[in-house]
Amino acid sequence: MPHTDCGVCVCVCVCVCVCQTVSPAAGEHPLQYNYTLWYSRRTPSRPANTQSYEQNIRQIGTVASVEQFWKFYSHLVRPGDLTGHSDFHLFKEGIKPMWEDEANKNGGKWIIRLRKGLASRFWENIILAMLGEQFMVGEEICGVVRFQEDILSIWNKTASDQVTTSRIRDTLRRVLNLPPNTIMEYKTHNDSLKDNSSFRNTKITL
Ligand SMILES: *[C@@H]1O[C@H](CO)[C@@H](O)[C@H](O)[C@H]1NC(C)=O
Ligand SMILES: *[C@@H]1O[C@H](CO)[C@@H](O)[C@H](O)[C@H]1NC(C)=O
Ligand SMILES: *[C@@H]1O[C@H](CO)[C@@H](O)[C@H](O)[C@H]1NC(C)=O
Ligand SMILES: *[C@@H]1O[C@H](CO)[C@@H](O)[C@H](O)[C@H]1NC(C)=O
Repeated sequence: MPHTDCGVCVCVCVCVCVCQTVSPAAGEHPLQYNYTLWYSRRTPSRPANTQSYEQNIRQIGTVASVEQFWKFYSHLVRPGDLTGHSDFHLFKEGIKPMWEDEANKNGGKWIIRLRKGLASRFWENIILAMLGEQFMVGEEICGVVRFQEDILSIWNKTASDQVTTSRIRDTLRRVLNLPPNTIMEYKTHNDSLKDNSSFRNTKITL
């Protein structure tokens, strides 16, 4: 939750403050899980490695209700207005947006590449689908990432379970009403770790 009277400030185009997760107030819609919003900036000239990634990623705050999320989100620049090289990550509280995290290491992600200009709306919709538990895959969803301007991904826990994976893909298609020619691909984090890249050896070209 953004507050002006507590915590440490992190500059993310606007200044927001990191506070303890606040329990939902009366009348708010509590989420089934609490979610933490993270922000990172990449230096394109430097190859990614775990250490620099971990140094560049900032935790912005954690939300426990739908209302808290939107209050928070409205303080951020809409991702469509961001310049390249900035990424947002919204993950269940306690899961770091890193391939190596316990919850992620056996998993992978669906990657969706959208035409520029479309990504902001789909990003908000994918967040709503996740917060509203529309994927119906139990605890499988770890979080969602918006990479640069036009790539979204949704991370899940167990890459080897085809049924779950397909269900996530089908939910994405249905909930997001994706244009028919949208490129969607799955990549395991194991493969990302092996080739040091979220997108290498996929059809997504950066
Ligand atoms: C979310 O955070 C609040 C405040 O720390 C806590 O009371 C609540 O149990 C958490 N909810 C979940 C689902 O973990
Ligand atoms: C990841 O790769 C390692 C070695 O390449 C392998 O031992 C391990 O089983 C793989 N894990 C998964 C979840 O595929
Ligand atoms: C995670 O996604 C992969 C790829 O679609 C899938 O094989 C796996 O079953 C999924 N795991 C869960 C728990 O949904
Ligand atoms: C990945 O990065 C590690 C350490 O940064 C390096 O040793 C390894 O050769 C890289 N692998 C590939 C496929 O680029």
